[in-house]
Amino acid sequence: MHAVAIVAAAGSGSRLGADLPKALVPLAGRPLVAWAVEGLLAGGVAEVLVTVPQDQRAAFAAVLPPEVRLVGGGVTRTASVRAGLAALPADADADVVLVHDAARPLTPPDVVARVLAALAGGAAAVVPVLPVVDTTVLVDDAGRVADAPPRERLRRVQTPQGFDRSVLADAYAALAEDAEFTDDAAVVRAAGVPVATVAGDERAAKITVAHDLAVAEGQVAR
Ligand code: CTP
Ligand code: MG
Repeated sequence: MHAVAIVAAAGSGSRLGADLPKALVPLAGRPLVAWAVEGLLAGGVAEVLVTVPQDQRAAFAAVLPPEVRLVGGGVTRTASVRAGLAALPADADADVVLVHDAARPLTPPDVVARVLAALAGGAAAVVPVLPVVDTTVLVDDAGRVADAPPRERLRRVQTPQGFDRSVLADAYAALAEDAEFTDDAAVVRAAGVPVATVAGDERAAKITVAHDLAVAEGQVAR
């Protein structure tokens, strides 16, 4: 099995509110994207491609190993991953693709390894998940609680998400031009592909707001 990872790093990070694209924001002195790439390689990925904001290639190249390929991203995460997939050479060795968020810099290599193991075991699609600890409800348009799904069946979905390469490529090829999904498992599920789960890790949390970055700084310091 030869795994290539596409790292989605082309977002601006509007909710974090830094004066840099989020993937370049430092965590213990190193950009988030550099942490994310290192974790993927340590977990068993052979090659990494990073989708970056169109006007920021040089800044990303300066902080990543030279063998990491950079590809201009799109307006949405879905468009960025699509651009990454399109940039994989058709004849490349890769038979599985992992898609990861640069915004999950401290994802332990063990999580990457569990995703790869599920793919090696025959899963066509796999996501790392965690249990939901809060009661989680659906609200109506007025903000009133409309339903409370049983918590034992709910999971929080993380990245990296792993896919058989042709399954992922076919699912993206079937999407409308402007389709937008928050993750890649939703894209393959829309194509009718079952998605397996493996254990995620709290340390793979996504950095979205300033508080998340403070938590990650504490994690590195421990
Ligand atoms: N991403 C991307 N291309 C986009 C938007 C997002 O590659 N057009 C990436 C981000 O760089 C991030 C991941 O997708 O690593 C998850 O997205 P999110 O946490 O929402 O990051 P941003 O979109 O950058 O943040 P915000 O929504 O707060 O602006
Ligand atoms: Mg976003």
